[in-house]
This record gives sequence, C-alpha cells and structure tokens, in this order.
Amino acid sequence: MPVINGPLLAIESSCDDTACAILSPEGDILAERVLSQTGHAALGGVVPEIAARAHLAALPSLMDDTLTDAGLTLDDIAAYAASTGPGLIGGLIVGSTFAKGIAIARDKPFIAVNHIEAHALTARLPALSGETPAFPYLLLLVSGGHCQCVAVRGIGHYEKLGGTIDDAAGEAFDKVAKLLGLGWPGGPALEKLARKGNPSAVTLPRPLLGRPGCDFSFSGLKTAVARHIAPYGQAALPLQVAADIAASFQRCVADIMADRAENAYTAIPDATALVVAGGVAANTELRTRLEAVAERHALRFIAPPLRLCTDNAVMVGWAALETLSARHDAGYGPSDDVPVAPRPRWPLTEMQPPGPVQP
Ligand code: KG4
Ligand code: ZN
Repeated sequence: MPVINGPLLAIESSCDDTACAILSPEGDILAERVLSQTGHAALGGVVPEIAARAHLAALPSLMDDTLTDAGLTLDDIAAYAASTGPGLIGGLIVGSTFAKGIAIARDKPFIAVNHIEAHALTARLPALSGETPAFPYLLLLVSGGHCQCVAVRGIGHYEKLGGTIDDAAGEAFDKVAKLLGLGWPGGPALEKLARKGNPSAVTLPRPLLGRPGCDFSFSGLKTAVARHIAPYGQAALPLQVAADIAASFQRCVADIMADRAENAYTAIPDATALVVAGGVAANTELRTRLEAVAERHALRFIAPPLRLCTDNAVMVGWAALETLSARHDAGYGPSDDVPVAPRPRWPLTEMQPPGPVQP
C-alpha cells in the first residue's frame, strides 16, 4: 500500500442501504454517504425488487454528492469498487454495473468486493484507533442477513468456524420484536424495551449452548417466545411482560454469542483479536459480553463504530485497497474484475488468496 495513484470510489448496494465512499490510496476516508431505504419498514422487511429500483434511483446523485463532499470529480478517481456479492441480486447488479460502467468508460481498474470480506477487513481500517490487528483474528459477523464466526487468516484467506443453521441473529431480534408488537427493524426497539425488563424473568432455551463448535440456531428461541405470549391472545401484552421477554431474549442471545466466541477462541488460540461487526453489534449487552470473553483470553476487542459495523461503502473501498495491495505484493497488477458477475451467494470460503482474476 499504496498501489494506486489517486483516490478509490466504492459502492455498496447489496441489501437496503445505498452507499458511496471515496478513500485515499492509503485508506483515509475522504467522503462517505449512506442512504438507508426507509420504505421497507411499512412492509415489514426488505422487498428485493423495491430495493433494487431504489438503488438505481439513488446512485447517480449519491455519487455526485460524495464527490462534492470530497472536493473531487470523476477525473480524480483512480479505481472503482463495488460489493459484487453476496446479497440481493438486483441491488448487486445495479451497484456493480454502475461502478463497472464508469471504470470501463474511464479506463480505470474495477475491483469486485465480497461484501462479507469487507465486513471482515473493516477492523484493519486506518481510521480506527489502535494498531491494525494482525492475522489471524476472530470475526463474529451478526446482522440481519448474516450470522457467522470466521477466522480471518489473511486477505482472501478465511476459515468459517460456524454459522447459523436457521435464522441470522438480527432476523431473530426482528422476529421476536414483531411478536412483541414492536416496529421494524426490531433490534434497537427490543434493546430499548429490554432496559425496563428482568433478564431472568422468562426461561428460554439456549440452542447449541455448551455444545462444541461455533454454529448458531435461533428459530427455537423465537418459537419459545411465541409460546410464552400465546395465552395473551390478541390482547396487547402488558408492558412489564413484554419488557421481561425482551430482556430475557436479549440475555439468551448474549449467552449464546459468548459461548460461541469461547469455542472460536479454543479453535484459533493464536488469534490476536476478537472483532464484532454487523447491525446486531450495536447491542450493548452483546458487546459487553463479548468484550469480557476477549479480556479473559487477553485478546484485543474491536467493535468498529456503528456506521462502519452496518452496511457502508467505506468497508467496500477498504477491502478493495487491501485486495489491490495483496495482489501487488503477490506480483500481480491491479487485475481487471469487470468479468466477475454479481453473485447472490458468495461464501467467504470460496475466496482465494491474491492472484490474477483471469489466467
Ligand atoms: O448490518 P445491518 O444494518 O443490515 C444487514 O442486515 O445487513 O443489520 C441490521 C440488523 C437488523 O436485524 C436489526 O434489528 C439489528 O441489526 N440491530 C440490532 C440492534 N441494532 C440493529 N439488534 C440488536 N440490538 C440492536 N441495538
Ligand atoms: Zn452486511
């Protein structure tokens, strides 16, 4: 690093956030914007087709505004990047085609970024305080769409230690919040309600707790909550009952996460840090519990600020810079990722250590 002679422009559009960021070749954030699509709330979840159209409508002006914030024009941009998977295929096509088109027209390199890899590498952003964590480190990625535990061994070198066998953690928060009559997304509302409740009031199952491995399971938990509130029928839940359920559920998820993080450490005892990312990482109880696990094993605990934990384009730009740098170190130029097609599924384990994209 640096291996490009000007700023890099990155696009994120894999779910319901349209984002654009411009990074210096060293990874400093020159400008960043995120437009969260609010229209899905009334529909109770993200509608892929609506999301894709909204990305298309938003991207041109979002990019112009981001360039203006940075005091730059497209003439200054030396490379382009976009989340190319995994995610909702419509949004991925919109964002990556948009970035590829400009890159081709301006004869600049395009870097196809794996969205999960971008979350995984955020902990190494120069803008974060403290030293860059060395490989390997442990990543707990907990969002509405993802729930996995990964050993980050190097650029393009990831070992999946476990993942959810049913719902993602954020999805579980959203579903339980819905049962409690809270809005969408449910995580923040549930956390707020939980502050008024007793976390020991309701006995809930803790799926997979105490078992070996780092897999997660949350659907039984949601069913247990549904059974607990069934006697109230159509009537509104008394506030204290709802608060007790929220607090008990949150404690339960924190117990499960801490248990899985312990097992991840056992699997990778040479890890240098425990990193948590994704929207659910905003949860204070969860952060506190994971921090305690890290402390017990003398691991650094890294929880990037929320705007970098949730979907954003800074992480996409940073992953692209790390990829360019690793390719350079491996003896390859900034290979052209234009032929890389958007992929709704793109497991981290299919990533390759740096090399030419085309033979
Ligand atoms: O990473 P994110 O913004 O979007 C993706 O899913 O990619 O994560 C959103 C998820 C939602 O399920 C939301 O309910 C959850 O993160 N979330 C939380 C909290 N804030 C957001 N879950 C628990 N506690 C929170 N404070
Ligand atoms: Zn994400």
